[in-house]
Amino acid sequence: MSNVQIADEVQRRRTFAIISHPDAGKTTLTEKLLLFSGAIHIAGSVKARKASRHATSDWMEIEKQRGISVASSVMQMLYRDCVINLLDTPGHKDFSEDTYRVLTAVDAALMVIDAANGVEPQTRRLIEVCRQRDTPILTFVNKMDREGKEPLELLDEIEQELGMPCVPMTWPVGQGKAFGGIVDLRKQQMRLFKAGADKRSDEGDEVVPLSQADTLRARFGHDYALAEQNIELLTAAAPAFDEAAFVAAKQTPVFFGSGVNNFGVQEVLDALVDLAPPPASRHVTRADGSEHEVPPQSAGFSGVVFKVQANMDPSHRDRIAFVRVNSGRYTSGMKLRVQRTAKELRPTSVVTFLSQRREAVEEAYAGDIIGFTTHGGVQLGDTITDSEAPASFGTYTGLPFFAPELFQTVELANPMKSKQLQQGLLQLGEEGAIQVFRPTVGGSMLLGAVGQLQFEVVQHRLKAEYSVDVRLTGSRFHGARWVTCDDDAAMRKFTDEAASKLALDAADTLAYLMTSPYDLRLTQDRHPKVVFHPLREHA
Ligand code: G4P
Repeated sequence: MSNVQIADEVQRRRTFAIISHPDAGKTTLTEKLLLFSGAIHIAGSVKARKASRHATSDWMEIEKQRGISVASSVMQMLYRDCVINLLDTPGHKDFSEDTYRVLTAVDAALMVIDAANGVEPQTRRLIEVCRQRDTPILTFVNKMDREGKEPLELLDEIEQELGMPCVPMTWPVGQGKAFGGIVDLRKQQMRLFKAGADKRSDEGDEVVPLSQADTLRARFGHDYALAEQNIELLTAAAPAFDEAAFVAAKQTPVFFGSGVNNFGVQEVLDALVDLAPPPASRHVTRADGSEHEVPPQSAGFSGVVFKVQANMDPSHRDRIAFVRVNSGRYTSGMKLRVQRTAKELRPTSVVTFLSQRREAVEEAYAGDIIGFTTHGGVQLGDTITDSEAPASFGTYTGLPFFAPELFQTVELANPMKSKQLQQGLLQLGEEGAIQVFRPTVGGSMLLGAVGQLQFEVVQHRLKAEYSVDVRLTGSRFHGARWVTCDDDAAMRKFTDEAASKLALDAADTLAYLMTSPYDLRLTQDRHPKVVFHPLREHA
């Protein structure tokens, strides 16, 4: 296949994730997007899955979830001429580092906000990750059919939180019971609100051009007049939509609607196709430290493992490595190589997510996700290439480890099992299920996580897969920062003073464990030459 053909396929790809706080409407919106694009035909199928995921939290359920989430973690749909990959960001109790890492595998994010609640804590954490990587963000303000905050107030809040200007693409007329519809500012028309959970498209909706303002004023009275006023205000104050600025994460286009009513959803899907960027070049670091960029249309296949998932069945030690394709074309049966070890990767099975097509198409391009089932030899952050890539290809930069926010101390019930514990934690650490810290001045090992469920899963898996019983107890630490310093003397002074709060992670990188944000500020003030990093890039 020529580079031109590969380039055409790349141009058709859109890979994104939805970021939101629980209950803002992510599941509902996902379902409507799938429904609109024809990927599913029955409303309710995604919601049913969510219900089964959260029905109970016993251990069997966690096991089941691990199975279910393989199938549901990537949803591919065809819309217009585009292949859209929607990656699930686990939320609720299963919030974990995986949630963060998924965001390293996308080219854009769709932020869903509940009109009544504005920007909520979990969304804020996910925004931070997007901001660090300059991921373009589209914003959808959901639940306009309910009383909520004033749209102008919401825009203000979003601007503050995102640190970038909002550019409304649609504007609501009324809200709650008086929700009349949305004005499409580009098309200069208003689409009148019609409730309907089973709509497949907007075709039946009534659309009135803004040139018929009298009709709209007569129909929506004060609400329309207010919307007109606000639009006038915004036209003067807000910047115009600038695609380059959006792609550089310097402004966010904002849409209003009601997910549950399939209202305002088509605009979002169209924006993904029209505005969101296709996959771009990615950075690779060679063994000698030099860097180069790999364009997505280059002929050689390459990708990066952004998620590793153990098999549900603990008697099989196989894992699924989720690879985001970064360049070239993957074809089934292709010979693959893990760059870190220079060894061949021989998956026992390969999953692609082209469920919508009738024939089994076993190829993938930049932006697509492939799941390789293997018996080992692959870990989080690995770069996979076809076997023809030079050994000096290098590894994709940037799969980050995020500073844990929750810590627990591990104690063995049976001290004779310490070897099994080490092995178990090493493997679970390789999967990214948990982060392990060893205090530099002795003491019990610490486990670090960003979500509570990570501890429960690790404790359960240590028992089920490694026959190790551990007790997890609370810890005084509430955060970690990886530390570096160019000045040896300043570093020594710091390590002497902070010895009781220092630990090494699985890659032997030094970290400072903090008891509170205040503790960190104080330590930073005392040691201005030491740099405290909230992320560690894959070593
Ligand atoms: P999540 O995945 O972000 O956690 O949210 P989810 O889609 O499950 O939505 C959370 C709740 O908000 C659901 O109600 C859903 O029906 C409701 N919802 C989503 N979009 C809208 C909207 O545009 N307007 C209104 N009024 N409600 C919306 P639930 O009571 O938890 O579930 P259900 O029994 O109604 O399905």
